[in-house]
Amino acid sequence: MSVAEQSIAGAEARGHGFMASSVGRKVVMAATGIVLFGFVTVHMIGNTQAYLGAEGFNGYAKFLHTMLHGAGIWIFRAVLLAATGLHIWAAVSLTLDNQAARPVGYRAQQPVASTWASRTMRWSGFILAAFIVYHLLHLTTGHAHPNFDHANPYANFVSAFKVPAAAGFYIVAQLCLGLHMWHGVWSFTQTLGLTHPRYDGLRRNFATGLTLLVVGVNISYPIAVLTGCIH
Ligand code: HEM
Repeated sequence: MSVAEQSIAGAEARGHGFMASSVGRKVVMAATGIVLFGFVTVHMIGNTQAYLGAEGFNGYAKFLHTMLHGAGIWIFRAVLLAATGLHIWAAVSLTLDNQAARPVGYRAQQPVASTWASRTMRWSGFILAAFIVYHLLHLTTGHAHPNFDHANPYANFVSAFKVPAAAGFYIVAQLCLGLHMWHGVWSFTQTLGLTHPRYDGLRRNFATGLTLLVVGVNISYPIAVLTGCIH
């Protein structure tokens, strides 16, 4: 089957709606990426309460679990789950389409207008997905935590990062988050149409500044526990 026939067959198998078009799925990627990117930024800011000690951090955790009479966290979880599911679905289906359009592959890949971060989106995304599963079992449900106490999120936070292997995995995952976020912010500003050369410097600085801030602060948590600054 020729490339054109395969693309037509793929489009027919999916239907002809907005979500079936590659532009539609790129918009889904961008919109859900903005939600997830907003979440990691707010989450990073919220976790700075750990620098205020047990009272500040546990008070913040209590607020999260009791806002809107306890319904707030479930609304927030539903939005986050839907955004993550749609983001992964759009990424996988666009990747499969790209592969179907180029079944033989290039003999020698010659990256032209791509960056290292863009070429690593698939595996950084895969490591991030594995990190999120581990992170939820570690600090939310406690199944992957050696001595989890549901009544004391601060103690869970501190004892979690006293284990060097866990702290190391968090650091590696944050570096993947950095690669993924940097290219993601760059791409969604492009999908939103901010592609004029006049905005390129601004987009690049915005992507770099925010990525460095989120990743730097996130990495500071395991390091602060390992060095005894948070105890
Ligand atoms: C070093 C960096 C991070 C630290 C110290 C951290 C810490 C925490 C803590 C303590 C909780 C439990 C809050 C509670 O139940 O009271 C939590 C929940 C969570 N974290 Fe993180 N986190 C980090 C990075 C991330 C990243 C990068 C992501 C996503 C990519 C993420 C996603 C989540 C999610 C989805 C929850 C569950 C929220 C809920 O209860 O529904 N975290 N995190």
